[in-house]
Amino acid sequence: MPTPPRHRSLKLLHLEDSEVDHELALAWLLRDGRSVQTLRVEDEAGFRAALEEDWDAVLSDYNLPGFSGLAALEILQGSGRLLPFVILSGEIGEDVAVQAMLQGASDYLLKSNLTRLVPALDRAIEANETRRARLAADQELAASRQQLSELAQHLQTSIEGERAAIAREIHDDVGGALTALKFDLAWLARHSDDAALQQRVQSALEMAGHAIEASQRIMHNLRPAILEQGLVAALQWMAQRFEKRTGIECAFRTSHEHLNLPVGVPLVAYRATQEALTNVSKHAQATRVAIDMSLARGVLSVEVSDNGRGLAAEDLAKARSFGLRGLRERAETVGGWVDVSSGMGERAGTTVILSVPVSGTQRLGRDSQFDEGSLDEREDERHNPSAWGDL
Ligand SMILES: Nc1ncnc2c1ncn2[C@@H]1O[C@H](COP(=O)(O)OP(=O)(O)O)[C@@H](O)[C@H]1O
Ligand SMILES: [Mg+2]
Repeated sequence: MPTPPRHRSLKLLHLEDSEVDHELALAWLLRDGRSVQTLRVEDEAGFRAALEEDWDAVLSDYNLPGFSGLAALEILQGSGRLLPFVILSGEIGEDVAVQAMLQGASDYLLKSNLTRLVPALDRAIEANETRRARLAADQELAASRQQLSELAQHLQTSIEGERAAIAREIHDDVGGALTALKFDLAWLARHSDDAALQQRVQSALEMAGHAIEASQRIMHNLRPAILEQGLVAALQWMAQRFEKRTGIECAFRTSHEHLNLPVGVPLVAYRATQEALTNVSKHAQATRVAIDMSLARGVLSVEVSDNGRGLAAEDLAKARSFGLRGLRERAETVGGWVDVSSGMGERAGTTVILSVPVSGTQRLGRDSQFDEGSLDEREDERHNPSAWGDL
């Protein structure tokens, strides 16, 4: 048992209509040898006014003319202040006492048994402090969770920005140089009859072709150019490529052929589908997967469901798995959310649904716009990878 803080001074608000009863209670507190500061109030107005000040505890009579202990307790709770509230009454029946405790009173005492007053107040104050500390800790935790989530979202956005910048550099520098190289090699081929040189030039042209293909592949992973043709086309293409690469049957269905989506949403949907499909190939042991995209009641949803082994709650809590967690943060950057569920049984399968409310947005743009949204039409043209290598 912790020792009661007997040394401390006590600032007590006493709701009591009888001066004699107040003096009696005060005498018990002073007898205990602590310094006590009290204020006696006897009606609602006095109580409300006194609540503006700081108190260690409230001691309250149960029945007062025109007011009551329970009404005072309600006022205290409504004020948002966290204070111990001990009822001290001449007569209090068991049912009334139970009612008071249920309503949030810290304790109740009879005026005929004031020996309990000091320990009851001490205990109530201590319990209240513990509660206050817990609330403060909860608030701190919530604030730090919020900060962490904001940081994660910021990182997602920065990563996407960095990717786009790297893709742009590869396009401009590497792509530009390779295209010029191809051009010069082709010129050499046209201006020479030397068979050996022709052969070298052809193999150099082939190498340059490989390098261009590799750059395009890298660039595409960094910044999916296919999105410029719209989310529908991009997901269709992703489904086909997935099926070809993994042998897992992959169907794509959509409620709309063209979508007018807010800036940033297509890329989030694209990356979400990409992560969900990667998970299917990595973990699901599935034979079939379906991507369903729909826009209904102003909410865009992209659902990826497989017929694989399903997942458990523990899977989502894995310390080193950030795919689905990152996906959630990514969804939040555009005001969306992610649901992951799994059925029961052998081929239970897993379903990942991304939902993003898209109606009522002011910034409606082309479905194909990227996060950074800063490329103008001319630049778009300049960054079109399909323009490479066409000599
Ligand atoms: N489609 C799926 N089928 C079965 N299990 C899955 C599926 N998707 C995810 N999981 C499980 O959930 C875990 C967490 O996934 P994720 O957050 O993407 O991290 P990672 O893929 O890096 O492990 C995976 O390790 C896997 O056990
Ligand atoms: Mg993953």
